[in-house]
Amino acid sequence: MDLIKNLQWRYAVKKYSDESVSEDKIDRIIEAINLSASSCGIQPYRLFIITNPELRRRLGEGSFNTQIHASSHLLVFAGFNKITSDYITDYVEMIQKQRGLESGALNALKNTLIDYFSTQTPEQNAIWSSKQAYIGLGTALIAAAELKVDSTPMEGFDPKLFDEVLGLSEKGLHPSVILTLGYRNSANDYLASVPKARLPINEFSTKIN
Ligand SMILES: Cc1cc2nc3c(=O)[nH]c(=O)nc-3n(C[C@H](O)[C@H](O)[C@H](O)COP(=O)(O)O)c2cc1C
Repeated sequence: MDLIKNLQWRYAVKKYSDESVSEDKIDRIIEAINLSASSCGIQPYRLFIITNPELRRRLGEGSFNTQIHASSHLLVFAGFNKITSDYITDYVEMIQKQRGLESGALNALKNTLIDYFSTQTPEQNAIWSSKQAYIGLGTALIAAAELKVDSTPMEGFDPKLFDEVLGLSEKGLHPSVILTLGYRNSANDYLASVPKARLPINEFSTKIN
């Protein structure tokens, strides 16, 4: 039941206190994100964890989301622009090594993935990668709540600015979604004391036996 209690406790924070999140907790959240499922299992996004105040001030310019600079940590989930054959080859090689398999043991998987992604446009690749990044975002929200760390998932940022400041295009990436971490400033955040609003479970979900 702690899971549900912790999910009820979390909310999308608007105002953070000055308290920093410990590196140990940040590292656990990062590890949880890395353990997220992804379609085809190839983790087609990368995570940037930003504390640098000047960088965060620039990234927050023009955004209504003051959390971008006024929180402890800023996480940027950046999807791949393209799923290349080289990336698939290297990833499958890594799986083989981690599972103690002979080189070439997973050639069938590798070839299937290479064939599949070669039929997709770069735009389809990018959309698909972002979807996987959002799964990581979901894990991060749960992991943060379990550690009693506050967070805010956000789409309200300037993707062009993030791309320029973080040099994402050069890395073959684009910003998919962002998340801030920190601790709520309950006295100055009107959302800190409002009850959570959600659909009744039986309206939201249907059990089919
Ligand atoms: C993908 C995504 C994007 C969001 N973008 C923003 C945002 O730009 N700014 C913000 O303050 N909240 C943002 N939110 C927070 C939602 O408004 C919030 O999760 C929703 O109202 C439900 O409330 P709760 O998370 O506090 O339970 C976003 C949430 C998600 C999942």
